[in-house]
Amino acid sequence: MEFLKSTFVIGFLLFLSSAALSLAEPKIHHHDFVVQATPVKRLCKTHNSITVNGMFPGPTLEINNGDTLVVKVTNKARYNVTIHWHGVRQMRTAWADGPEFVTQCPIRPGASYTYRFTIQGQEGTLWWHAHSSWLRATVYGALIIHPREGSSYPFPKPNRETPILLGEWWDANPIDVVRQATRTGAAPNVSDAYTINGQPGDLYKCSSKDTVIVPIDAGETHLLRVINSGLNQPLFFTIANHQFTVVGADASYTKPFTTSVLMLGPGQTTDVLIKGDQSPARYYVAARAYASAPSAPFDNTTTTAILEYKSAPCPAKKGQAIRPIMPSLPAYNDTNTVTAFTTKFRSPQKVEVPTEIDENLYFTVGLGLNNCPKNFKSNQCQGPNGTRFAASMNNVSFVLPSNFSLLQAHHQGIPGVFTTDFPANPPLKFDYTGNVSRSLWQPAPGTKVYNLKYGSRVQIVVQGTSIFTAENHPIHLHGYDFYIIAEGFGNFNPRTDTSKFNLVDPPLRNTVSVPVAGWAVIRFVADNPGVWLMHCHLDVHITWGLAMAFLVENGVGELQSLQAPPLDLPQC
Ligand code: C2O
Repeated sequence: MEFLKSTFVIGFLLFLSSAALSLAEPKIHHHDFVVQATPVKRLCKTHNSITVNGMFPGPTLEINNGDTLVVKVTNKARYNVTIHWHGVRQMRTAWADGPEFVTQCPIRPGASYTYRFTIQGQEGTLWWHAHSSWLRATVYGALIIHPREGSSYPFPKPNRETPILLGEWWDANPIDVVRQATRTGAAPNVSDAYTINGQPGDLYKCSSKDTVIVPIDAGETHLLRVINSGLNQPLFFTIANHQFTVVGADASYTKPFTTSVLMLGPGQTTDVLIKGDQSPARYYVAARAYASAPSAPFDNTTTTAILEYKSAPCPAKKGQAIRPIMPSLPAYNDTNTVTAFTTKFRSPQKVEVPTEIDENLYFTVGLGLNNCPKNFKSNQCQGPNGTRFAASMNNVSFVLPSNFSLLQAHHQGIPGVFTTDFPANPPLKFDYTGNVSRSLWQPAPGTKVYNLKYGSRVQIVVQGTSIFTAENHPIHLHGYDFYIIAEGFGNFNPRTDTSKFNLVDPPLRNTVSVPVAGWAVIRFVADNPGVWLMHCHLDVHITWGLAMAFLVENGVGELQSLQAPPLDLPQC
């Protein structure tokens, strides 16, 4: 009897494990995204916003590491659109990356395109957003990658998980805002509100009845997946009376550390654990600007949600509502807090950072001013002193092609779309973060790429400039994660600053916040063929040309080569 029982138990266990094995098969997830105008009411006013499936923010996609996404995007809006899967490595599938005129031509109104790609080795929080003009103001959503079936987080399983999408809202059509700026040459209007999961919160007019509630139970652990999906503003993020344990960023795990405030540049994500260890009440979750550029205008409002203990005394009886507890936020220009935060990031273990470097690159990133072109009227030159705003990397102000995508031009050998002479170093050496002579403020427009051999080991010193104004730039590289091995202020000094390099356990990210009037050093191996945009994730800076692209050549054999383009790839 005993024997029979144990045979049965073993048999049952075998059955269970084979069931687990079949569960561990990667899955294919099909989704339909319909891009369409949808009435969205915020700040007392309804706008016909461009959304995905009528949702704002758009749908959250949840998958497991190893799974494949097949997303059919149908454009029913009146603008061109593309969707970018921010942070997805897109190994050999650059055609599915999304930036308009870089890896594809836009999906025209009425047309559709199906993005197919597989998540390989990434776990945590990413997001998706439109990569066409300023549509990402309302066209964005979370992309959550759980561990493979059968494997788990490198931290105790949280009782609850919530994506927190920080956004920026204009009480206007965001496309009109950028079009006006392009027409006048001046800086675009700043946003009118920040949002948490699409809602501005209690501190704005006509908003408090829709403030987002984040529930928590006493004693439980809650994983918050915080995403800065704003357009132009790095943000501080905090919760009254609660500490964060940071466990991941940009879909890579980090060595856990605690902090009471986060700073995220647009594009960045940070996964944090919070504990329900405070008295059962209601606490504000809040975000507001980290404005590093002295004297540049910014949206100085504060968005809030409410962290609500389930056992908290009932809140909203009319007239006697108990105000949630408000956290204090760092000052808008508190760069010290930012540095203390960003320099805490480590990979969980020792990692393989490339040590021999094949491509030693030095890129300046910053603003510029174009003198008013002769054939322009004065109302087209409303930037400082009758100029037009610009921005550049290594003095090249990036211009997107308009007849072909860069990837298509490369793949089909179409001449005249781009040149391969993006400079490895600034064309002129100067005191980048000092008082830069006005004669060095005007960049040169160009559609230039930098060629990388497959497998080359790349280091880039990303050097901010103080041309017009210094500012913290969130620099994002498509198609790759990179190690951030050091950061600092002033000009990078190759003689002394190499001693600061962390070649042991630097964090792996897809977007680096380059310190204001400072620099950051990143390394990666060019193991993903294609054309990959690198740009400042402040949309206004992309508009002004703060971008370049890498052209990574195929390696040897199929597994090191770009796949064939999908048959439905949009044509220009
Ligand atoms: Cu999240 Cu090129 O962008």
